[in-house]
This record gives sequence, C-alpha cells and structure tokens, in this order.
Amino acid sequence: MSNKVLVLPGDGIGPEIVGEAVKVLECLRQDHGLRVELEQGLIGGAGYDAAGKPLPDETLRLARASDAVLLGAVGGPKYDTLDRPLRPERGLLAIRSELELFGNLRPAILYPQLASASSLKPDVVSGLDILIVRELTGGIYFGEPRGIRTLDNGERQGYNTLVYRESEIERIGRLAFETARKRDQRLCSVDKANVLEVTELWREVMTGLSADYPDVELSHMYVDNAAMQLVRAPKQFDVIVTTNMFGDILSDCAAMLTGSIGMLPSASLDKDSRGMYEPIHGSAPDIAGQGVANPLATILSVAMMLRYSLNEPALAEKVEAAVGQVLDQGLRTPDIHTPDTRKVGTVEMGDAVVAALRS
Ligand code: IPM
Ligand code: MG
Repeated sequence: MSNKVLVLPGDGIGPEIVGEAVKVLECLRQDHGLRVELEQGLIGGAGYDAAGKPLPDETLRLARASDAVLLGAVGGPKYDTLDRPLRPERGLLAIRSELELFGNLRPAILYPQLASASSLKPDVVSGLDILIVRELTGGIYFGEPRGIRTLDNGERQGYNTLVYRESEIERIGRLAFETARKRDQRLCSVDKANVLEVTELWREVMTGLSADYPDVELSHMYVDNAAMQLVRAPKQFDVIVTTNMFGDILSDCAAMLTGSIGMLPSASLDKDSRGMYEPIHGSAPDIAGQGVANPLATILSVAMMLRYSLNEPALAEKVEAAVGQVLDQGLRTPDIHTPDTRKVGTVEMGDAVVAALRS
C-alpha cells in the first residue's frame, strides 16, 4: 500500500524549501522504490488567503487522511495585524492540536563540515548530537483562560495559563524515555520546579516514570541553568525533555550551536507515530522569493518522516548521507556559507541532494 503524504508549503520561504524536499521524495519514489502519494494543501497565511482561515477545513480533512504531513513554514508581516485567531501561527498550533501531535522531536546535530559555521568554539560543539523532546499540544500555548482584559481601573492586563495534566506529562515522558533508550540512555528533564507548581508536578511525574526505565539515567535541571549549560557545555546532554514553551526557546538556542537554524528538522508525533515534519526555522519573510533559503532542514525533515512514520529507515539514512555529501562537496546556502566554500541557492542545493541520491 502506498503512503499518503500531505504537503503544506505555507508562507514565506515555505514553498521554496518544500519544493526541494518534494524533489527528494519524487526521486525516492522513482529510483528507490518508495511507495508514496503526494497531495498539496494550504495552511497559514496561504490558508487564510484562500479560505479565510489559517487551517482550512479541507486541509485538516486531508491531514487526517494522510500517513504524514510535510510542512514548510507559516507567517508573514502582512498577516500580523489580523485578529489573533486568524493569524498563520494559529493554523500551525491548530493542526498540531487537532492531530494530537504531542511529541516534538528536535535533534541538534553538528555536521563536522559546518563546525566553523557555529558561533561557538569548535571544541565546544564538535560531535554535538542532542535531541530535544518538546511537549507540543499543552502547556501555556493552549492553557485557558487566556486573553487581554481591561481591569476595573481601566488598565489592560494580558494573561495566559500554564497547565499540565499528569497524563500529558506522562505521555511525553514515556516518549522521551523510549527515545533516550535508543540513544545514549541519558535523559535530562528541564523545568522550573523551584517556582512553578505545574513543573513541580512535571518533575514528580518524570521521577515516577524513571522506575519503568532503569536503563535510562534521569536528571533534572532548571530551565535557566539549562539555557546556560546549552551554550557552555552542550555535549553534556543526550536527550532533553521539556514543556512546550521551554522547548520552543531551548530548541532555537540548540539550533544555533549547529551553525544555522537552516539545518534542523523536526518531527511531531501522535501516539501511533503518525506525524508532521517541518524545519524548526520560520517563514523568513525577509528572504522569501529570493531563492536563497536553505532547503536542508526540510530535506532532513523528509528523512525523519521516512524513519518515524513511513518505516523506511534505510531510505532515511540515504537522505542524510546525501546531505552529508553535498556538504562535503562544499556547497553552502548563504546562511552556512564561509569563505572557503561555494555559495549556492535553494534550487541548486536541492538539485545537488537529488544528484547525490542518484549517484
Ligand atoms: C516553532 C515556532 C512556532 C512555535 C510558532 C511559529 C508558533 O516557533 O515551531 O518553534 O512557537 O511553536
Ligand atoms: Mg520556535
């Protein structure tokens, strides 16, 4: 049976980078026996323009009928003045929530070829291979009540609610322990248990779970310290598990250790490993349409899709190896370009990956 993949380019550089990732999928279909059917849909600003909302009903219907979703990025200045529920980012949050994609895996791997592109000293980051497991459908991103209200004295007050149920903590915890088990068996749970009751509960549940995973070494760290440790000595980490918002922040920080946020893929999984795959970077409106965006994070997201949802680990490795090969050839988009390498655009980079897959 053929796998159904829904392709959602989104906004900004989304269509450009997704175009290259689709070339990779087509190549795997033609030359490497991948059984896959692609469909296209609209999300974010593109969804709003076409259907009046950032997650059109048709997109959600197609997503539910797919084995996996490949997403580019959403958002752009032209949508920033829309009513909040109509903004592109809400479409992204809605699809994560509707599909119950609670488990967000964000690997940060330093390709040896890019060691000099990191802003940190090579010895601090060389060989870096960490994985952030971010809770994605709960916490302050979704907690109610939320809003901006006017107090009795006429002053406005903004408010959001940080809530986690035990079952939500447990399911992300189990995913993190299982993931750590397949790696270096070290899991660091990041919280703010010294201040926030909700993460005191988070810590308690994680500690309770560790009895079921005696082979995994569990540690805890406050988020402020974790941010510091990530730039001080990032290689101390193997797997990090944390809340939705802490994970959002720490994953951008971890991304930069690898030289460019343009290199990092992500997987967002439900309990049955159906998933959505997207680069962790945004829609980069400042460079949209110029053909200079780095498509490698999206192409590496295809590799994660092959591994986690399409059950094709060998093809996943092929794609990752092809990315390594184009880096070896010295090809670099502007975000990872250094003087001794050759600057290429989005399409040339995508074509080079396809050529490497064919060779
Ligand atoms: C991410 C992004 C999103 C998030 C935004 C675009 C809503 O920053 O995927 O990290 O905050 O989750
Ligand atoms: Mg983010």
